[in-house]
Amino acid sequence: MSTTPSNKRAARVTTTRLAEMKAAGERIVMVTAYDAPGARSADAAGVDAILVGDSLGMTVLGYDSTLPVTMGDMVRASAAVARGASHALVVADLPFLSYQVSVDEAVRNAGRLLVEGSAQAVKLEGGVEVADLVNVLVDTGIPVMGHVGLTPQSVNVFGGYKTQGKDTESAVDLVEDCLALEAAGAFAVVLELVPVELARLISEELTIPTIGIGAGAGCDGQVQVFHDVLGIGDFTPRHARRYAEIGEAITAALSAYVSDVRSGAFPAEEHSTHLDAEVAAELDRMVPFAGEEA
Ligand code: KIV
Repeated sequence: MSTTPSNKRAARVTTTRLAEMKAAGERIVMVTAYDAPGARSADAAGVDAILVGDSLGMTVLGYDSTLPVTMGDMVRASAAVARGASHALVVADLPFLSYQVSVDEAVRNAGRLLVEGSAQAVKLEGGVEVADLVNVLVDTGIPVMGHVGLTPQSVNVFGGYKTQGKDTESAVDLVEDCLALEAAGAFAVVLELVPVELARLISEELTIPTIGIGAGAGCDGQVQVFHDVLGIGDFTPRHARRYAEIGEAITAALSAYVSDVRSGAFPAEEHSTHLDAEVAAELDRMVPFAGEEA
């Protein structure tokens, strides 16, 4: 039996396609999504890759950090995104404590994101300290995207969501982190909240693509959080641009619904179905029903 898919739809973006894009100087576009409709919209817009980010803890689940997000949360979101996206590469985040405890657990959890979550790749946070693990995952057949700079799962170590790599020592550490990830077989690396000059230098130094968020235009691609780009929620990080005010549009639409129900303007005739005249007449004859008379 051939293992080559024969369907004629636009091919799914692959990790090697992202490498080709970097080599050709084509910018890579990535956005987060957490459910099937969001993934469908991102796919239709033509993004190259969708990140099922553990940012879902904050954007969707209402936590104030990514730390409480579980493997169950990620598997379910990833599977939903994978059902919605047929073109973009789907990368799912390994949540906090799903890969730090042991290599065995990390392989099992990363595998779940591919098997149950239908993602094509996983992302994990860290540099030199996770390089051996990245190597094991890649050898197991699990493509890995790295993530350095401000790594939100370590927010309590950083003492807040602050730009990283601002002095020479930490900048050199970041370059070494990226080189270690590349040597370990990562197919790309996210640079989050990294000064523009450093992100540019890393992007030039690496053969694998860099995907920036708050790291300037010198990266090979950009990733943004769905809710930030669409204007859902009050807070906009400095690195994000709101391309719409969908949050306001949602509130306005729901307010109109509330007022229509209260005034009786909804539902209207076109939203309703009727009984056949004969059935209605028969029902009328039967009412009040036997036994219900006062
Ligand atoms: O979870 C997420 O959305 C991320 C991006 C901020 C890169 O990791």
